[in-house]
Amino acid sequence: MAELAINGGEKCVTEPVKVKWPITDERDAEHVAEVVRAGRGGWCRLGLEDGEVSSFEREWADYHDAKHCLAVNNGTVAIECALQGLGLRPGDEVIVPAVTFVASASGVLMARGIPVFADVIPETCQIDPDDIERKVTERTRGVVVVHYGGYPADLTRIKDVAERHGLFVLEDCAHAQGSEWEGRKVGAIGDVGTFSFQGSKALTCGEGGAIVTDREDVYEACWAYHHIGRALDAEKYEHETVGPNLRLSEVQGALLRTQLEKLQAQVEQRMATAAFLSEGLQEIPGVEPLKEDERITQRGYYFYVMRFDEETWGVSKGTFVRAFGAEGVPMSSGYWSTVYELPVFANNRYDSTGYPVVEGEGYGRVVDYKDVRCPNAELVTHHQHLTFTTHSLLYRKCAEDALAVFRKLWENRGELKDGEGQ
Ligand SMILES: Cc1ncc(COP(=O)(O)O)c(C=O)c1O
Repeated sequence: MAELAINGGEKCVTEPVKVKWPITDERDAEHVAEVVRAGRGGWCRLGLEDGEVSSFEREWADYHDAKHCLAVNNGTVAIECALQGLGLRPGDEVIVPAVTFVASASGVLMARGIPVFADVIPETCQIDPDDIERKVTERTRGVVVVHYGGYPADLTRIKDVAERHGLFVLEDCAHAQGSEWEGRKVGAIGDVGTFSFQGSKALTCGEGGAIVTDREDVYEACWAYHHIGRALDAEKYEHETVGPNLRLSEVQGALLRTQLEKLQAQVEQRMATAAFLSEGLQEIPGVEPLKEDERITQRGYYFYVMRFDEETWGVSKGTFVRAFGAEGVPMSSGYWSTVYELPVFANNRYDSTGYPVVEGEGYGRVVDYKDVRCPNAELVTHHQHLTFTTHSLLYRKCAEDALAVFRKLWENRGELKDGEGQ
């Protein structure tokens, strides 16, 4: 008789937690309703110094101990806008991690730069400062650091490499609302930080984004870019540079403000559940959390990332994830490829006409993404990392259920077979 659900056995968890996200209450609903009823500015932020978007920007800047914050439409354009604000020019190279969401790299292409992929450290899944240094050429202008899964990358070493080579550091904090490195929130530790407030993120208004920075010049250039090329003090029709309209609406700003009031308590709840999960994993062979680092003084979670060892379990990560899900608790294998293996890069085309990055006149150095190899990134994405969602971390029961499934799968690992039960 089979024990594992994937082979027809009983499910380990028959009453899974109904995970709710986003968490809303009357305060969110009332505040948004007030803003909708008032209709100030046609719900456009312009001219509303005390409006929702302006107020959120001040609150988000304060949360990061940053001088400036600019709200934009989403986390992808936040990266594009921040790179424009940093003065990226066509053909400039920007080093990006090979393990991340596509936008960390495609945002560079959108800003007319060339992404150059750096490998990651398997124990942390974060960009490897030594590989950043190896990838620097005379064309390199900066680094996009992604705090992948909310685990802060080693900003101390990255800033050191950046300073020695005269590079900017852009922190893509889409996963890292609430994360701290040595007591300071990530985001404004580098030159500029970008955030996503898309629906799956730890702070959301459906779609939205933000840029934080201590640099006046970057803030001013980002403002102009996001505001169709108008400088901060420009008249209504005074456009000095080129830029899209990336402004966030007052209704989204209203939601962000009441959601932000809940963020810190949620960060603490997720950390408590994650600590419980990490402790429980100590008794499960062949699965381990990311390395502890005392310089991480607070951790926001997008994913709780674990490293799976195929040799210990005798099956592929894919088989394990399917068997896990069959037991009634969702488990994800995270991003299942490196960014350079995605079609946009692997086929060297980045727009619908197929304009080639490799030979385009604007792009000096020939970069053929088919030739890129980052061995650790391939190991991590294809074979190792498992992810548990940020929202599940709001419920201790989700972690209890996950640990019960890990135990059951380990006890019955003899039943796990690649290629069966699929
Ligand atoms: C690391 C990372 N950067 C950027 C983005 C882009 O954010 P958005 O979806 O708001 O455009 C995401 C989205 O998931 C992300 O995960």
